[in-house]
Amino acid sequence: MSAAANAIHWSRLLAPFLGSPFSVHALDRDTAWSRPDARLYRYFEQQGGRLQAVHGHAEALPFADDSFDLVTCQTVLIHVRDPHVAIREMQRVARPAGWCCASSPTI
Ligand SMILES: C[S@@+](CC[C@H](N)C(=O)[O-])C[C@H]1O[C@@H](n2cnc3c(N)ncnc32)[C@H](O)[C@@H]1O
Repeated sequence: MSAAANAIHWSRLLAPFLGSPFSVHALDRDTAWSRPDARLYRYFEQQGGRLQAVHGHAEALPFADDSFDLVTCQTVLIHVRDPHVAIREMQRVARPAGWCCASSPTI
């Protein structure tokens, strides 16, 4: 399973449910949240997967089209200028049979 998620906390929560082996690209525009420490990398390895922290913006995801089985975010769409642009980006990088899932408080 390959997944793109925003960001470290959400990815950490999902990791045990992704099935092994898996890889997660965890993206955030804030470098404080796109630079995990060795402890987090170890946690993902223990779950049978791999974490890659990525600095970037939800409105212009730095990934190729059709890259991931799952593209997900949690409490992010309320922060972006135009959530429609971010949702279109999520769709773009999800594989044709992949999933997009956004969890958010009411916008
Ligand atoms: C309330 S936190 C949610 C944390 C995250 N979902 C997690 O579980 O780790 C919102 C996060 O969205 C990030 N964010 C806000 N606007 C963004 C954007 N346009 N692109 C990427 N990340 C963004 C913020 O830097 C912040 O870390």
